[in-house]
Parts: sequence; structure tokens; C-alpha cells
Amino acid sequence: MESGLELLREQALERIRGAAGLEDLEAVRVEVLGRKGVLNSISRDFGKFGPEDRARAGKLLNTAKQAVESALDARKAEFESAALAARLESEWVDLTLPAPGVRPGSPHPVTIIQAEIEDLFTSMGFTVLSGPEVETEYNNFDALNIPPDHPARDMQDTFWLEDGHLLRTHTSPVQVRGMKRLGPPLRMIAPGRVFRNEEVDPSHEHTFYQLEGMMVDREVSVANLIYYMKTLLAGIFRRDVTVRLRPGYFPFVEPGFELDVQCLLCGGGGCPVCKQSGWLELLPCGLVHPNVLRMGGIDPERWMGFAFGLGLTRLAMMRYQIDDIRLLQGGDLRFLGQF
Ligand code: DAH
Repeated sequence: MESGLELLREQALERIRGAAGLEDLEAVRVEVLGRKGVLNSISRDFGKFGPEDRARAGKLLNTAKQAVESALDARKAEFESAALAARLESEWVDLTLPAPGVRPGSPHPVTIIQAEIEDLFTSMGFTVLSGPEVETEYNNFDALNIPPDHPARDMQDTFWLEDGHLLRTHTSPVQVRGMKRLGPPLRMIAPGRVFRNEEVDPSHEHTFYQLEGMMVDREVSVANLIYYMKTLLAGIFRRDVTVRLRPGYFPFVEPGFELDVQCLLCGGGGCPVCKQSGWLELLPCGLVHPNVLRMGGIDPERWMGFAFGLGLTRLAMMRYQIDDIRLLQGGDLRFLGQF
């Protein structure tokens, strides 16, 4: 019995020494020390021994078990410290190296211009409002004096939603919300994203930005309108600009105008940017139609107003001389990082 035990012990220690890793060790542990392991199965023979021999055999068995156990523990510790050393080696970090640079973001060109115009108008007492991009047909068309069969609805190719709502085709519906929310007198601007079902090309996008403006007071004239528009353009272009008004048709204003700026590149002489005309068409505007005031809950006998709709995207393209509108929404960091 003694020599058998000795042999088992030696074999076990030999296998522990040769184990390739923690899994191997575990296999040895189960095979040798487990409940059905080889050492325990030996103790089954102890029943045949007399009491003295049995006690001695028990002792020997325990010593063997302890030897195997401590060999397993020692080998396990070896594996663990080798694994730790390998990890420390592979995850080693030189804390004295300079950190990789953090690349700062930059505001989008439309955001830059929008923020400047917001600053300018809030300094003149205007409130900045926003409205939802998903609008009702009523706010986008009806309340702006555009009747159901009016050709102006075809002018703006609309994305319709299945439930009858639409993606707003302009920021003008925020006029309607603004009149109801603020009541007269009021001064508001509403920058925002608008959508049209357009074929996309270098100068057309299905998604772009506008900034709506509206002022309602007792006496509001075309002279006031021109004053604010000139202030707006001088603020954006940082110089005095020459403007002219042409008649323009929009159902929500009467009279309606197209406000043109003398071309900032050629000074009016004619160049490719202004298509040789010397003028840039920039700002549709006018005096608010009485029907629009009425539908906004304002009495047109007592109040009057002006409104304008600035193409923010177009303005950004002019300011930064961007020749393809698709760059603005393209998400290319090489483009966006320049601003
Ligand atoms: N909503 C018009 C458009 O998107 C632009 C516009 C024209 C807005 C005249 C106005 C305005 O407030 O008075 O085409």
C-alpha cells in the first residue's frame, strides 16, 4: 500500500510539474484529489486493515494529499504570476509621453451665421422662437393665406406624411405660432430647418435652413422693413450694403418684395456670382397680409407688421463662398473643420 501511494504521489507531482496551464492543473486536481480521484479510491482498501494499520494508512494518505495540494497551489501561483507579468508587459504605458492631441470640433457655417443674426436681433428686442419641423397643413399653408387650390402650394414641393402632417417647407408657420403665443406688439425671429421634395444638385437640397422674422406693432411701414433689413445685412457682411426692392409675390404679405443686395464681390459691375446683373436676390419680405394677422388672432384694423424669410443656407454659402450646397450636410470633417 505504501509503495503504491508513493508511486501515485510521484506520478501526480510529475504531471503537475509538466502541466501546461491552469486547465491542466485543474484536470490533475480532479483526477488525483477529487471524490472519485485515485487517492480516495485507495482508501476503500483500508477496510481490510486492522485499526493500527488503518490509522497509519490514513495518515500517509493525508500526507500524500497535502503534498499534491501544495504542489498544485505552488504551480498555480507560478502560472498566475507569469500571466500577470505578461499582462504588465503588454499593457505597459509610458506616462511621460505627451498625450495624443484632442481634435476640437468647430461650429457649422450655418450655425455661425445663425448665432450672429440671433445676437443682432435679440439686441433689437426680438424674441427667438422655434417651431416643429413636422407641421400641420394649416400652419404651413392655410394660416399663411395660401388657399387649398392655390398655385403657391405647388411652388413648394412638399414632403407629406401619411397622417396628413407635412415637413414644413418654410419657417413661415412659426409666424402663426408666434402671433398666437406672443400677441401684439411682437418682434420675433425663427431660425430652423426646412424641407422640400427637390432633386438634389449643387444648388438644391431637400433640407436647408431659413430664418423667419416678424414684427407687429401699431405703425409699421416699408421704411421700417428696409431699415431692419439693412441693419441685418450690414451686420452679416460687416459693411454698409446697397439694397433695392422689387415687387415679389407671396400670399402672406401685401405688398410683397424681393430685396436685393448690390453684389458684394463686384460692387455692382457684374460678375459670375451675380450672373452679371450686379445684384444678389437675398431677402423675400413684405407687409403682413391682414388675413395672416387675423388667423394669428391679431386685429388687422389695429395692428400691422412686416415679415421676412432669409435663406440661412444660401447666406452661409455666399459668406464663405461655398459652391456646392451638398457640402453643408455632407458630414465631411475635412470640409467642416475649416470654419
Ligand atoms: N416663406 C417664403 C419661402 O420660403 C419666404 C418668405 C417670403 C418669408 C416672404 C416671408 C416673407 O416672411 O414675407 O419661400
